[in-house]
Amino acid sequence: MPKTTTVHYFIKQDSEALSVAAADWIASAVSDAIAARGIARIAISGGSTPKRAFELLADPNQPFRSRIDWARLFLFWVDERCVPPDHPDSNYRMTREALLSKIPIPEQNVHRMEGELDPEEAASRYESALRTQFRLEGAEVPRFDLVQLGMGDDGHTASLFPRSAALDSMMRLVVANHVQAKDSWRVTLTWPVINHASKVFFLIQGAAKAGVLRDVFQGPYRPEILPSQLIRPRSGELFLLLDKAAASQLPNSAGQDSGTLEVTR
Ligand code: 6PG
Repeated sequence: MPKTTTVHYFIKQDSEALSVAAADWIASAVSDAIAARGIARIAISGGSTPKRAFELLADPNQPFRSRIDWARLFLFWVDERCVPPDHPDSNYRMTREALLSKIPIPEQNVHRMEGELDPEEAASRYESALRTQFRLEGAEVPRFDLVQLGMGDDGHTASLFPRSAALDSMMRLVVANHVQAKDSWRVTLTWPVINHASKVFFLIQGAAKAGVLRDVFQGPYRPEILPSQLIRPRSGELFLLLDKAAASQLPNSAGQDSGTLEVTR
């Protein structure tokens, strides 16, 4: 049964303006969730793009830090590299340096994927943690208030890489995934979990992503080679925060700072 996703895109002049917008988005989603339900549960990605936004969230001279009641925020990861938490490739390490080490978030609110463990063990332990934190029963799926995603130039998101086994994992919440192109293991949320979130946004910058962004949202549906196409939130809405360089090949976006695409698949 085809499904239409309304993709809302917002285009910022450059990477700094994009990071400011991302920090604002995260602060708004967290404060809105806390206002509505008393707590906020979000999942963040790693890689390089979100680092500046995390630094801005932590910066006392910026307007974002004070908007968040950090004791009511519960932080999860979308994915993690299977490395120790102090390894240069660790998403947790990047987040600790940019954000966690600078904010008063209680340690017990931070749910790290244990990249130092055997990948399958780390995945099953994280799945158990999600079941506990979200008080899930049976086949229930956790609903994050916000999921922040990135996109690789190969069309991957989270650690859902082209032609990798995780693309077919729909009955699990968290899986270990071997990434042949990187000859390494990852732990990742599965795409049904991501799609179950209240709000999902891609944070994408740079000209290197312009072509794949166009292919993902304007090209034929080929999720096995463009896994970002699997991201079709249950809410029917998906948000893209882009800089001009990344948006440069989106049709009709020239000169615009926002717009929508109706994507039916
Ligand atoms: C990771 C991320 C991954 C990332 C993309 C984009 O662990 O690397 O979760 O999905 O978002 O690879 O990475 P950049 O932001 O570095 O381009």
